[in-house]
Amino acid sequence: MNKKTIAITGSTGGLGKKICFHLARLGYDMIFINRDIIKSKALADGIMLKYPKTNISHIIMDLTDFNSVKTATNELLTHSFNTIILNAGIYNVPLKKLNTGYNNVFQVNFVSQYYIVKKLLENKNASLEKIMALGSIAHNYSKLDENDIDFSTYKKASKIYGNSKRFLMFSLFELLKDSNIKLCVAHPGITLTNMTNHYPKIINWLVKIGIKIIFPSPKKASKNIIYALNNNCSYKQWIGPKIFNIWGKPTIKKLKTCEDAESKKIYEIAEKIYKNINI
Ligand SMILES: NC(=O)c1ccc[n+]([C@@H]2O[C@H](COP(=O)([O-])OP(=O)(O)OC[C@H]3O[C@@H](n4cnc5c(N)ncnc54)[C@H](OP(=O)(O)O)[C@@H]3O)[C@@H](O)[C@H]2O)c1
Repeated sequence: MNKKTIAITGSTGGLGKKICFHLARLGYDMIFINRDIIKSKALADGIMLKYPKTNISHIIMDLTDFNSVKTATNELLTHSFNTIILNAGIYNVPLKKLNTGYNNVFQVNFVSQYYIVKKLLENKNASLEKIMALGSIAHNYSKLDENDIDFSTYKKASKIYGNSKRFLMFSLFELLKDSNIKLCVAHPGITLTNMTNHYPKIINWLVKIGIKIIFPSPKKASKNIIYALNNNCSYKQWIGPKIFNIWGKPTIKKLKTCEDAESKKIYEIAEKIYKNINI
């Protein structure tokens, strides 16, 4: 059997690391797309110690820096791989307007990763079979606001984050609807990673203890993403934990909170954004 290769963004994060150890155990080679080469190489070293037959290469990309995104995407286009996992994401960080005109949460979670997908499709990467995007339950609570595309005027981090995930998930459903490249949106439920690190120290400590006690570990939560590798979602379905989208075995479910008119509008806006930044 030919060895398959998976490219993954944000592999040095809490879930990313666990996903990569699972992938190495299953015999995949990997292309890490990370912003920090030292962390990226340290993760590769850890994996190689346990799974020495794994081939790992590194591409450095900072998703907040659009020049870096362009350069690194060009480099990615020279590689051969079967699946890309769009895993990098930020949640409760101080909002910053970037030179694309969008805030950092919208750009990291959506704009930059949508750009990567568009370039992969345009360049007809022959080996590419599947695109996987990390969704979140938070997408449910952030309906499209055409007057504030990236939710920069919104106060709640969960809404700003949810909006960016809603854009990522539904723009990709529309973009890949009739494509022969499969899309699978997967989510881990809720699990303790570095996502809450920007909370004030004491709050973060309390939140972390709470999440650790109540919710599944990142190792267990990452199994939802691994399950999604070999199981496909149809249009507007996703894979995640069975019970309340938080606990239990990975299950395919229908996404119910985004009507067709809204997802088509999200896609239309995504295409406009891509056109404007692709210069
Ligand atoms: N944890 C949860 O409960 C939960 C729930 C639903 C969905 N998710 C999704 O799961 C995915 C992984 O998140 P996580 O929970 O593992 O969080 P995490 O531990 O904070 O990991 C986030 C990853 O994104 C990378 N990243 C952040 N900003 C970046 C930038 N500017 N350029 C390039 N990479 C950047 C981080 O890089 P560094 O390692 O360099 O910091 C890290 O690898 C995210 O898409 C998140 O939205 C998580």
